[in-house]
Formats: sequence, C-alpha cells, structure tokens
Amino acid sequence: MSSISHEFQTLFGHLPEVTSEAPGRVNLIGEHIDYSEGYVLPFAIANRTHAAISRSSDGLVRISSHQRRNNIFSISISDVKPGSKGDWEKYVLGVIWSLGVTEGLNILVDGNVPAGAGLSSSAALECAVAVGLNALLGLGLSDKELARATQRAENDYVGMPCGIMDQSVSIMGKAGSALLLDCRDLSTESIPFSVADAGLELLIIDTQAHHALVDGGYAERRAACESAASKLGVKSMRDLTLEELLAGKDKLTEVEFIRARHAVSEISRVLSTVQALKNGDFKEVGALINQSHNSLRDDYAVSCPELDIAVEAAHSAGALGSRMVGGGFGGSAIALLRVEDLDRARSAITEAFSKEGFKKPRFFTSLPSAGASALLSSKLQ
Ligand code: GLA
Repeated sequence: MSSISHEFQTLFGHLPEVTSEAPGRVNLIGEHIDYSEGYVLPFAIANRTHAAISRSSDGLVRISSHQRRNNIFSISISDVKPGSKGDWEKYVLGVIWSLGVTEGLNILVDGNVPAGAGLSSSAALECAVAVGLNALLGLGLSDKELARATQRAENDYVGMPCGIMDQSVSIMGKAGSALLLDCRDLSTESIPFSVADAGLELLIIDTQAHHALVDGGYAERRAACESAASKLGVKSMRDLTLEELLAGKDKLTEVEFIRARHAVSEISRVLSTVQALKNGDFKEVGALINQSHNSLRDDYAVSCPELDIAVEAAHSAGALGSRMVGGGFGGSAIALLRVEDLDRARSAITEAFSKEGFKKPRFFTSLPSAGASALLSSKLQ
C-alpha cells in the first residue's frame, strides 16, 4: 500500500478509492505570454503533489494534508462555491466546483512541490485533485478540458487571473521533453531536452524571496497587454508582429508599449528556442534565455533584486543562459550550466546573496518528468 493510502486510512477509517499525483513545473522560456495566447516551453519537474480521494455519503467535503496532519477542513458540498471559506483548501474546492461535483468527498493531499518557489505548487495541487476526480467519477474529461477546468478553479474560485501554462504542463508533461504549448488551442509538441548528453544541467535557484506585488502586479501586466491589443485592434499579442507594434506605438501609453514589446518578442523567442533545441545548439538556447530575462526585467518589470543577482552570479560562474521563471517578483530563476560549473555557480549565488543580506537561496535540479496520473483503487493494492 502506498504511504498516502495508509495515511488516508488512518485519517478517514477506510482506504481511498483513487490516488493521483501531479507535478510542478519550470518554464524554459515563454514567460508571461500564456494569457496573451502565445507559445510557452515549460517542463514538468520531479517534485509532485499526491492526492488520495474517496466519495462520502454525508454530503460533506473533508480535506486534509500530510503537512497539516490532524487538521481536517470540512464544508458541505452545497457550500462549495466562489467566496466559500478556506485558505489553501480553496485550490481543492475550486477544482471540485469547476468539475461540477455534487457529492461529498474525503481528500488527503501531500504536497512535495516547494511552496512559494514559483514552481507551481498550486497547479500541482489542482491537477492532482482534478485527475483523481476525473478517474474516480468517470468524468471522461480530456487533458485539455482538465487544464481549462483547473485554470477556471484558480481564476474564478481562488481569484488569481493566471494563464493556462502551469496546469497544462502539470497534466500533459512528458518525461525527457519540454512541452511546446500553443496557449491559443492547447495543441502541444514534445521537444526533447537532452541537456545531459551535451554535458549540461539546468539549475533551479529558489531565491526564497516573495514580494508583495505578486497578485496586483500580475493582474496589471495582463491588463496592459489586453488594453494594448484592444487599442491596436487585435485579439491578443499573438496576432501582433514587432513591425505592427512599432507602427501603432502612438496609440499606446509608454507602459502598454513596453509590456507589448515583451510579449511579442517573447513569443518569437520561444519559437527560436525550439529551433535551437532541435539543432542541439545550446549556446543559442542560452542566449535566448538571457534575452528573455532582460525583457522581463526591463520591459515587463516583473523581476526583483534577488532574481537579478541570482542571474548575474550564475553568469559569473559561466552560465550559458539564466533567467527568472514564473510570475516573478520573487520565486525561482534557472541557469543552464556546464556540469563542471554547477558547484561554482551554487557558491557564487550563495555568496552574492549573503553579501546583499538576502535569505539563503535553495537549489534544485530536475530533468523533465511525466505529467499527472491517477490510479483507481481496484488497481491500488
Ligand atoms: C504564473 C501563472 C502562469 C504564467 C506565469 C508567467 O505562473 O500561473 O499562468 O502566466 O506566471 O509566465
């Protein structure tokens, strides 16, 4: 029996009917363009959230987590709607609501994606619950439908206007490959990311910084792109070339123009990165990653001192490319490094952080891992 099934039994007095899991993610390139219908190139990481679920006949939804054992959150299924009570439980409730579940449930989760590190622990939680319920209740939803449902949970229940990238890769990620995702129609292509063969490794640097701007700053960036698109008469940044943007500059505020310049240039950088990966040209991949960081820092203004220092220190240790990942204002950065430079990079970053009086950074590495999966209890034992 898996350890989560065992813990579930101790907590609820019976075995779960389904267990499931879903990973966090890093994004190689394509930042802040999912909500502009762009392309993104994330991969699922090894760290994942596990869920164990069963139906309950009393109309109550009970939620607990391995991290907060002995604390069972409970709510009637008829009260599961936006504005309900709940803290982190809202990520779970949002999924139950967006899938239209009408019966009671017992749910235990065990989150192993570092929270607050910009590695999408929230998407991992949402997706683990969603694939579990999809299997348990025989909903028959496709990967794309599950991605849209979990995004709706976060947008409309949790209240975070995120795009579709994190949930999509958590569900559709493939071991060994980055996922080229077209955020317009959710079509995908697996792009092999075989850094090890090239003597390289992708270092993930958790700056441990979380700046207050996160929610408002994110919504403001999204609004600037939407307003630029509407002023220029296009549906989204995806429909805009750099030439058209330059030609329409006078119709935009300065802020809208630079936000749009990031979005338009980032979309083309993703496609160039895919080409460079297909050519095995990691030098070019590194250069594009660097351009992405500069654009996020200067035009999109979502970086912060910790992220910039991490990136600079990674460069001083020989990184081919380094940039912030995720929403920004804290969280993690990545650095593409030769294996022999890894230790040097960790020390350079740690030293630079200590000199600036920042919190001690944490380091991870991860190869692209598989997306979410669920196992019904008939197959559990
Ligand atoms: C967060 C959001 C994603 C995406 C990234 C930035 O992770 O959840 O939808 O917008 O920020 O690329």
